[in-house]
Amino acid sequence: MCGIVAYIGPKDATTFLLEGLQRLEYRGYDSAGIAVLGKGGALKVCKTKGRVADLAAAVPARFKGTTGIGHTRWATHGVPSDANAHPHTDNADRIAVVHNGIIENADELRARLTAEGAVFTSETDTEVLAHLISAHAAKDGELEDAVRAALKLVVGTYGIAVVDSAQPDRIVVARNGSPIVLGIGEKEMFAASDVAALVRYTRQVVHLEDGELATVRADGFRTFTEDARTVTRQPSTVDWEVGSYDTAGYEHYLLKEIHEQPAAVERTLSGRLDERFATAHLGGLNLDARELREIRRVKILGCGSAYYAGEMGAQLIEELARIPAHSEPASEFRYRNPVIEADTLYVAVSQSGETYDTLAAVQEIKRKGGRVLGVVNTVGSAIARECDGGIYLHAGPEISVASTKAFTSTVIAFALLALHFGRIHDLSPADGRRIVSGLKALPGHIREILGQEEQIAELAAKYADNAGMMFIGRVRGYPVAREGAQKLKEISYVHAEAYPASELKHGPLALISPELPTVALVPDDELLDKNLTTLGEIKARSGRVLAIGHRAPEAKLADHCIVVPKSEPELDPLLLNIPLQLLAYHAAVALGRDVDKPRNLAKSVTVE
Ligand code: G6P
Repeated sequence: MCGIVAYIGPKDATTFLLEGLQRLEYRGYDSAGIAVLGKGGALKVCKTKGRVADLAAAVPARFKGTTGIGHTRWATHGVPSDANAHPHTDNADRIAVVHNGIIENADELRARLTAEGAVFTSETDTEVLAHLISAHAAKDGELEDAVRAALKLVVGTYGIAVVDSAQPDRIVVARNGSPIVLGIGEKEMFAASDVAALVRYTRQVVHLEDGELATVRADGFRTFTEDARTVTRQPSTVDWEVGSYDTAGYEHYLLKEIHEQPAAVERTLSGRLDERFATAHLGGLNLDARELREIRRVKILGCGSAYYAGEMGAQLIEELARIPAHSEPASEFRYRNPVIEADTLYVAVSQSGETYDTLAAVQEIKRKGGRVLGVVNTVGSAIARECDGGIYLHAGPEISVASTKAFTSTVIAFALLALHFGRIHDLSPADGRRIVSGLKALPGHIREILGQEEQIAELAAKYADNAGMMFIGRVRGYPVAREGAQKLKEISYVHAEAYPASELKHGPLALISPELPTVALVPDDELLDKNLTTLGEIKARSGRVLAIGHRAPEAKLADHCIVVPKSEPELDPLLLNIPLQLLAYHAAVALGRDVDKPRNLAKSVTVE
């Protein structure tokens, strides 16, 4: 959420700043701005409400400088506006700051600074930082000391980049809860909140840890702590190719990521299936069989699609390992003073590894002595680092705000965990083998579903026009319905409600009419008859039905049907979800929505 970029070197900073911001736009896109230090250190700022493209159009031709910072915003404090856009400056126009995160004591600091004479021009918490740093810069001289002194007074989370017109040869960055990564170039240095902004320029990066700062100059950098202790950080090489961060010829990142799923699943499975013992190897769990046997319950925590993937994961664990498992929104869990049990395994799910609510839940569990595993896509992210062990997805960078391939890979990771757990408990070798071969066949099955895209696009165009849609599923189908409804509402803005099929008759059946079509998950499993009865009840109320299942129901029960290949019943939900991704995508396209950057949302929500 919110993107930060910074450049220092011999070239014109603006070019990199604007391109970098474009690459980070998925993190926030309601306003954007840049600041550069021109000849003699004069600070120039350009910022605007709207997208990075609006900013690029607003930047004057003579806006040049070789040191600069930039920001693309997702509003928290104050509406999206020119004034609230970052960078924020002090009253002397000496200091400029871009910031991700939340300054919790901003009101108190604002009052104090105002009393001391600072004049605020925005509603943001970030502006406090500019005035605070400025106050200390006047006293101390060195920018890094001023930033350190200011941050000592701050309560909250931040990733920041700061420039000082009095010291144009450096940028100071700091991290506490919001990522900052440095990029090492040839006689030039970059910084950003995400490697996505850097990979076109360098693959050599340095990730700052929480509580660390860096002074970045064109010819190098120095990392240090808030107490000015120097720390040595070795550069690492970004694993993913530059192309992984592009749309690769697809119209949208979302469509590309939907189509990347067979390969993403292969990577998540790679090296983890053990055919001989019909189990899974998960090297990062840091729990041996004896410790795993002591676990009596599994509690899964995540937000948004990560939470729904967790619901599928909980069912897999219960079914295969016969251990009670439950998924809960991390954002709720952390506020309800949860009981933490020694024999419960907590699993935090996050594509980005940055979601603040999920991170806070992990910290709460650990503070109470609980054991937490992470199911995370981004290697080395805050949540991954905070957990005691875990499973990396290796799904590759996910750029579109709506999660697709990371969702699927998360469910695969849970299938592996459930298989591993199951084989330690009572899952028979025969059933283990059944799941192993089921998992191996999934990429092919997903390809088969993706092959039906044209037909699904036609259906999406037919159904997109309704004011709302109902999604129903029973037991294994219910998390599919929830994720399907989530996908539709977040990218097409069509109201979508998910219900357990069994609950329809206890209330929402009142909504059924020709204007509210139902997407029904009807897998060919032990509950098929029950599901068909529900379809009959909907049709009897003149409801339209789009069925997703393993064979077409009778014409009188469904108006349309999408048939998916049959896997093992425990793995079917994962496949039933794929057509719903395409349905949401094509509905959003048919309605002319901004598919990759839906309104009001952001990819990684790093605030409470
Ligand atoms: C945001 C995104 C969702 C995502 C959720 C969790 O709300 O809009 O698409 O599912 O965050 O993100 P995470 O990175 O923790 O999986």
